[in-house]
Amino acid sequence: MSAVPARGLPEAQPQSEPWTVLRTMLWSADYLKAKGVESARLDAEYLLAHVLGLGRLEMYLQHERPLTSRELDEFRPLLKRRAKREPLQYVLGRQAFRSLDLKVGPGVLIPRPETEQLVQVVLEWARAERATPVGVDVGAGRARPEPADLTGLDVGTGSGAIALALLTEGPFERFVGTDVSAAALGLAALNRDALGLNERLELRAGGLLEPVQSEERFDVVVSNPPYVSEQDRGALAPEIVDWEPAEALFGGSDGLSVIRSLVAGAGACLRPGGLLALEVGLGQAKAVAALMEAGGLYREVQIRRDLAGKERIVAATWSGSNIERGA
Ligand SMILES: C[S@@+](CC[C@H](N)C(=O)[O-])C[C@H]1O[C@@H](n2cnc3c(N)ncnc32)[C@H](O)[C@@H]1O
Repeated sequence: MSAVPARGLPEAQPQSEPWTVLRTMLWSADYLKAKGVESARLDAEYLLAHVLGLGRLEMYLQHERPLTSRELDEFRPLLKRRAKREPLQYVLGRQAFRSLDLKVGPGVLIPRPETEQLVQVVLEWARAERATPVGVDVGAGRARPEPADLTGLDVGTGSGAIALALLTEGPFERFVGTDVSAAALGLAALNRDALGLNERLELRAGGLLEPVQSEERFDVVVSNPPYVSEQDRGALAPEIVDWEPAEALFGGSDGLSVIRSLVAGAGACLRPGGLLALEVGLGQAKAVAALMEAGGLYREVQIRRDLAGKERIVAATWSGSNIERGA
């Protein structure tokens, strides 16, 4: 194994060993590790597989194949970007989210696995809402078609991950996604259009619930808002704090400033019995549940865990009380 220089992958000298798939992978893993990348080997594999247009397993079957100079030229700058701690997903330009393959890039938050669980909580509620069969009876033993007529509002839609997953998987007819970030709305539009959902996801620019018209009511308001507290800034990995947009991360001194506004205002956008579902930060769930319980404006307040067993989702149904829309 060659020593790892401070710069990227060295040029192969005429007489030197060729850069085979295996040699490139091992060298790059060491290089990324030396730059402090935690998942160095895996990331090297993903980058190489991307350039070679192969799956990671297929790549293993071609370990001894030398890379062409074109492949090396394409690979080097990607490796350098990752070595500067740019998130792998930005370098590859993609992130899987539930059944979707979403486009991501600088200016938009990379969708996280815990948010997949937020989608799951909303799906379970929506499917239960639509469990009572309606429409034509198509005969014993056959499932009736599920009516897909629910509407949703995704506040801080980012890449569009939540709204697009719910439109794809759940009984939803239509979503509105809002965001303050023009970059996020641009990417959400690309993802929406790639999925052929442009008729069913409307994107609106603006802060929190401001883009919602006063007479509009939704069955669901869902959000993964910025919730990192200022004091936790220092604990974030460089991939997050140096690369992901600050407005997607930070929620004021205790992390709850956006969540407070959402809990206060979401009811005015919900039909009676509609669902408010929020992703929250570690250790915030009980405080957020208490905000929803205060004043008796929400019912059936529940805290749900993500797949790692952490309390990360708080959901409740709207009592139907008349309130003014919050800020
Ligand atoms: C944590 S990210 C979530 C993105 C996406 N929903 C997801 O789960 O991957 C929060 C998003 O909220 C947006 N945002 C932050 N403050 C906002 C505000 N006051 N009003 C609307 N959107 C806001 C950010 O631009 C960002 O896209």
